[in-house]
Amino acid sequence: MEWHHPMRALRVMIRNKARHLFGKSEPLKRVAKRLDQQLGTALHVAAAAVPALIQPRPLRLTVAITAQCNLRCIGCRYGRDFMRGSQLPLGVVLTLIEDAKAAGVELLRLYGGEPLIHPDLPAMVRHAARIKLSTYVTTNGILLEQKIDELFEAGLRNISIGYYGEGSTYDRYVQRRGRYARLERGLEAVRRRYGNQVAIQLNFLIMRPSCNSQALTAAWKLAERYDLTFNTDLIHYSLPYFTEGVDRELQFREADRPQIVDLVSELMHLKRSHPHRVRESLASIASIPDWLLKGPAMRVPCTAYELIWVGADGSVQLCYVTFKLGNLHQTRLRDMLFRDSHREACQNAFRLNCPNCHCERDSRVQRDIPSRLRYSGIQGIDPIRSRSKRGPTHGEVSMPARRPGLDA
Ligand SMILES: C[S@@+](CC[C@H](N)C(=O)[O-])C[C@H]1O[C@@H](n2cnc3c(N)ncnc32)[C@H](O)[C@@H]1O
Ligand code: SF4
Ligand code: SF4
Repeated sequence: MEWHHPMRALRVMIRNKARHLFGKSEPLKRVAKRLDQQLGTALHVAAAAVPALIQPRPLRLTVAITAQCNLRCIGCRYGRDFMRGSQLPLGVVLTLIEDAKAAGVELLRLYGGEPLIHPDLPAMVRHAARIKLSTYVTTNGILLEQKIDELFEAGLRNISIGYYGEGSTYDRYVQRRGRYARLERGLEAVRRRYGNQVAIQLNFLIMRPSCNSQALTAAWKLAERYDLTFNTDLIHYSLPYFTEGVDRELQFREADRPQIVDLVSELMHLKRSHPHRVRESLASIASIPDWLLKGPAMRVPCTAYELIWVGADGSVQLCYVTFKLGNLHQTRLRDMLFRDSHREACQNAFRLNCPNCHCERDSRVQRDIPSRLRYSGIQGIDPIRSRSKRGPTHGEVSMPARRPGLDA
């Protein structure tokens, strides 16, 4: 606990106590979540006039434990020319986890590159579980069949999986033969050995080639078959470790609007009929066409004041894209947080003095009143329902989905 920041220490203590009490009751947890959302909205309203109200509140830590990967996705540079060969040593990650917990971080995401390649991943998970820091791993799932026993034993109960198409479409995109079959074997192994004790979320990547009903239906069927919750990631344009394809063929353009709107209509239908399986809010789903087509012109204040991102080379940033705070090979996390540079980064993120990407879109839409009104159709603007010509195409859910509580 950071006793030289008494107010922060008090806030962390209060939050931990509240979680302990609320943790026993689902309705109370929902009330607490709604209250937190209302406070977030109030903060954004007030901070529009007084930006200094935006202060660091690191709740979620994302760590790329390795830059190596066993796939070669067309839209990604990991495993090739991004932080080539970098990997975080176990000792650095254990100290990072300690510092994060003491600073009030509530959710740890371990990813990469491909995190299941890192030989010390189980030790990292075990340490986080021991100090009661909620943890999930984002993986391509290829090694799940071999690694799930050790990870489960270490305490891992939440996984999210990058999904890049079905069958040969997947194999072509990841540029490796037979890998979709391995991904499916991994999912099957987790369910056969551990049932629903492990919550799994599918991250369906919306890019130009996957923006169609057939691709969505295939992903949805997989989610139903293995009882996965369903989330979407949007093809990126500003993250240094992603690419848009050689001729930007993965990226959207204005002419793609009808396809995007149709896909989003289907997603909204799925959300309405399976609210627990689809985790994203309706308003956030409705905002997808604008995030994809407006790019940096989408001016919704950012909530990155709640984030910290760590790269495989030890670099620490406020968010996935920018605002460097230091490097773990020189400085501990605890000595980077809550300094002037951290505070300034948070305020610049809120004001979008940054490449302005679509990360964190759900919390951003929820806390920004004009966006919330616009995308929940309250102002009479429902670009999705009014444009959709297609009816629902997906069957009813057969099993209740566990909610992993992940932020993809
Ligand atoms: C960088 S990957 C690392 C973890 C793991 N190797 C995987 O593929 O899931 C983390 C997440 O990024 C998302 N992603 C992959 N390529 C992307 C791209 N070009 N643009 C935006 N998100 C992408 C996927 O949904 C994936 O779950
Ligand atoms: S998206 Fe994931 S699986 Fe694909 S190359 Fe990047 S890190 Fe590897
Ligand atoms: S909008 Fe800006 S601050 Fe927010 S995640 Fe993207 S680059 Fe970072």
